[in-house]
Amino acid sequence: MADDIWADLADRFADGAYASVKGRVRTYVMHRQLLEHLPPPPASVLDVGGGAGHQSFPLAQAGYDVTLLDPSPAMLGKARQRLQRLPAEVQRRVTFVQADGENADEAVHGRRFDAVLCHGVLGYLERPGPVVDQLCQCAAAGGIVSIMAGNADAAAVRPALERRWDDALASFDAKREIGVLGLPTQAHTVDELSDLLRGRGVDPLRWYGVWLFVDWLDFSGADLDPRDEKQLTAAAAVELEAGRRDPYRRLSRVFHLVGRKTAN
Ligand SMILES: C[S@@+](CC[C@H](N)C(=O)[O-])C[C@H]1O[C@@H](n2cnc3c(N)ncnc32)[C@H](O)[C@@H]1O
Repeated sequence: MADDIWADLADRFADGAYASVKGRVRTYVMHRQLLEHLPPPPASVLDVGGGAGHQSFPLAQAGYDVTLLDPSPAMLGKARQRLQRLPAEVQRRVTFVQADGENADEAVHGRRFDAVLCHGVLGYLERPGPVVDQLCQCAAAGGIVSIMAGNADAAAVRPALERRWDDALASFDAKREIGVLGLPTQAHTVDELSDLLRGRGVDPLRWYGVWLFVDWLDFSGADLDPRDEKQLTAAAAVELEAGRRDPYRRLSRVFHLVGRKTAN
């Protein structure tokens, strides 16, 4: 495993980004989208690049048996800290594994899972193929593979909203940018990742946008207060609906692709 580039970012990501309106909307929308496809608890879930557990701990709270795999000791440390704040029976449903996604199958000793998640990870890798291989391999026959990734088709949205017009013009056909956490990131398209899944025995079922309006408001400088629960709940309901349908979902900077494994 390489140096832990997440060591300096773990707090900012886990406590900062996720505590914002955008972070809370993302957690809500992704969770609701996932529940449309997951078998009922206590099905098993492998969260590859699971970070501090924001996506999989809500599943453990709902009764799922969660394995969180991540290469970063700092992120795993953050995840352990956050898990300690949850009830003991939820803690018992979560297992941590320190490994790269590229070695997931070996790290989980060949176990097969009812669902394999990989959210916000592929964009930090040189190539998505090796990790997508492992996601598909670790899914049981009939199991779900869930990927969240940056949307290359909406690359101009962020620079345009930040009024960086030259960058926006240059970004229409670009896939790389410095992401919101300050790391180089790469975006993908739904078609590209769907093809990768198909080539590995996983049929794409559905794709969603993850957020739209709260992202636009944030980048254009609006002050969104995460303590205003009423506004937050109302915004999350709108985002959930926008993420399901065209043309809105196509403009979301992040997409959520869900597939089902057909064979072993
Ligand atoms: C932006 S965070 C996303 C965390 C979590 N999936 C979420 O959605 O909250 C990216 C995570 O990818 C992990 N990561 C980086 N390289 C990885 C790799 N090769 N395999 C698996 N995870 C990786 C990082 O350690 C970090 O926890």
